[in-house]
Amino acid sequence: MIEVFNFKPEHVETAAKLFVEGYKRLGKTYLDLPSKYGDLYFVGSKLGNIIKENPSFVAVRNGELIGYLTGFANIPNLKGRSMGVYIPEWAHGSINTKDKEKIYSKLYSHLSKIWIAEKIYTHLITYYGEDVKLNAQFHKFGFGLLVIDGYRTLTPLKINDNPAFYIRQAKKEDLRILSHFNELIYKHLRDAPTFLYSSPSQKSLEEIEKDFLGSNRITFVAEHEGKIVSIIRAMLNEGPGCEVVQDTGTLGVNFGYTLPEMRGSGIASLVLNKLIEWGKKKDMKRCVVDFESQNIEAYNFWLRYFQPICYSGIRKIDDRIE
Ligand SMILES: CC(C)(COP(=O)(O)OP(=O)(O)OC[C@H]1O[C@@H](n2cnc3c(N)ncnc32)[C@H](O)[C@@H]1OP(=O)(O)O)[C@@H](O)C(=O)NCCC(=O)NCCS
Repeated sequence: MIEVFNFKPEHVETAAKLFVEGYKRLGKTYLDLPSKYGDLYFVGSKLGNIIKENPSFVAVRNGELIGYLTGFANIPNLKGRSMGVYIPEWAHGSINTKDKEKIYSKLYSHLSKIWIAEKIYTHLITYYGEDVKLNAQFHKFGFGLLVIDGYRTLTPLKINDNPAFYIRQAKKEDLRILSHFNELIYKHLRDAPTFLYSSPSQKSLEEIEKDFLGSNRITFVAEHEGKIVSIIRAMLNEGPGCEVVQDTGTLGVNFGYTLPEMRGSGIASLVLNKLIEWGKKKDMKRCVVDFESQNIEAYNFWLRYFQPICYSGIRKIDDRIE
């Protein structure tokens, strides 16, 4: 029988082991992952901290810890006006058997009861893209896909050059056009069918310079007949999205836009290829990106070249349940 207990400091080491075993399995598919999430001490300290301030449970069978679940509770305005909880990919784990679904069911039932009692109606969880069982399990619980984190090593894309487009690094003279593209992507993401809420995007040229040309940023642009038509920007040694890809050596793409009339001719692919070539020369190890799954163009483009390392799912519970 599976029993559920409060997650106490004495459980941290075994829970961290469960996570690390899962991370090592992940590393067989996704090469060159950061090593620190495979470190028991590092993962243990993250778990030790989160359980201090958040409701957290472990699943136990015959005295053996076989699963755990926790999350950052009480996040105001999480994807809406309700209070929410966010469960990062390292804040849950279980033994890798056919009982996984039962274990997560028990844990989520116990924990969600507490969250709802505290009026935490929005539940957001990140889990590995290859975890088909968990995907099905959280789907049953009423979670829908929200964000996908893509991952690839820095191998060149298998595409041909196109002399109609000139790909180069962005420079200070481009600031006004970079600012314009920043407005365009903001509008694109706010529009149907993505409806991504974010505070107004109006930024000064100083802020744009920091965002696109700052010391930990790299931006490539494609020119067509002397006009910039596509832009991809990345962060160095950090990434957007899930935590397990964040480290030195991560080239994190956090902006990609091609003018609508120029889409579908392979321009963003050429820009991405240049970025990857540049990253390789700078000793970057991996390239990551995140995007809303409802953003169909982004979905089609990024998943052509990236593997989905993590999915984030969201459940919004009827707040009349009280
Ligand atoms: C995502 C985005 C940047 C892709 O830009 P793009 O320049 O159209 O990308 P590409 O042309 O390289 O690839 C897109 C499509 O063209 C196809 N294509 C690639 N090379 C091609 C070529 N030589 N000739 C014709 N088509 C080509 C690709 O196969 C791809 O096809 P698909 O739509 O079936 O997946 C663009 O759609 C965009 O700006 N979207 C809005 C903003 C956005 O959502 N950005 C991402 C935020 S995370």
